[in-house]
Amino acid sequence: MEANIPKRKDPGKSLRIKVISMGNAEVGKSCIIKRYCEKRFVSKYLATIGIDYGVTKVQVRDREIKVNIFDMAGHPFFYEVRNEFYKDTQGVILVYDVGQKDSFDALDAWLAEMKQDLGPHGNMENIVFAVCANKIDCAKHRCVDESEGRLWAESKGFLYFETSAQTGEGISEMFQTFYVSIVDLCENGGKRPITNSSASFTKEQADTIRRIRNSKDSWDMLGVKPGDSRDEVNKAYRKLAVLLHPDKCVAPGSEDAFKAVVNARTALLKNIK
Ligand code: GTP
Ligand code: MG
Repeated sequence: MEANIPKRKDPGKSLRIKVISMGNAEVGKSCIIKRYCEKRFVSKYLATIGIDYGVTKVQVRDREIKVNIFDMAGHPFFYEVRNEFYKDTQGVILVYDVGQKDSFDALDAWLAEMKQDLGPHGNMENIVFAVCANKIDCAKHRCVDESEGRLWAESKGFLYFETSAQTGEGISEMFQTFYVSIVDLCENGGKRPITNSSASFTKEQADTIRRIRNSKDSWDMLGVKPGDSRDEVNKAYRKLAVLLHPDKCVAPGSEDAFKAVVNARTALLKNIK
């Protein structure tokens, strides 16, 4: 449980933490770090080979934090190199490209890789995760919208940020909040503080919104089948409406999901005698 809490000489002031980046190749991990540390952007893709390491100092409240950043290569080829570096981490910058659905779908696999490498005694609960939905400057190519990303992150208790390493949007805010959360975690005995957002909606609500998004037609959306009666449709509708009503549900994407359910019910009832 306390394996990840960093040791420090002066408990009042200085703190040393380890941060890693994770996510598919080419999503912008190195550029996000470069943007924050060096205030610049490189448009040419220079794949990270294995791991890049850097040290930086930041101030959080009255504490000086020495941050060791391990920027990981996302390519599967470097798995053997990466797996040496997961342990003793306090913070993860987990990045996907909003224009590459694959990189968003891969986030669960990244968590699984980390969990596997930490082994049975590793604890992911005392690590701060900052999810970066990166390349938001490329609005034309965007295929993972904010509510989908936010829902995934917040339902796991992770921080979520919309970022662009190119323009710098969201980058300072992300790092600032990330470091404050890590310090809070260290001061909280290694427990991740409960965020308002993660406490305010249930797993059932999050799963239902995801299911609605991925449903192939109105029947599928309401969880009924062709041939079912008006009563069955209405019953299924009422159950979803209670779960997702905007007055009751603040999960990202709930408003759109609620509207979709209303429309699905209207469409189905039109065709049932
Ligand atoms: P690996 O090291 O191979 O795992 O990749 P990476 O995730 O570190 O990606 P990197 O930071 O090297 O960026 C990959 C490419 O995306 C580069 O060509 C960057 O210029 C570009 N890029 C990174 N961030 C952004 C961004 O926010 N907007 C745009 N438009 N391009 C970006
Ligand atoms: Mg890189």
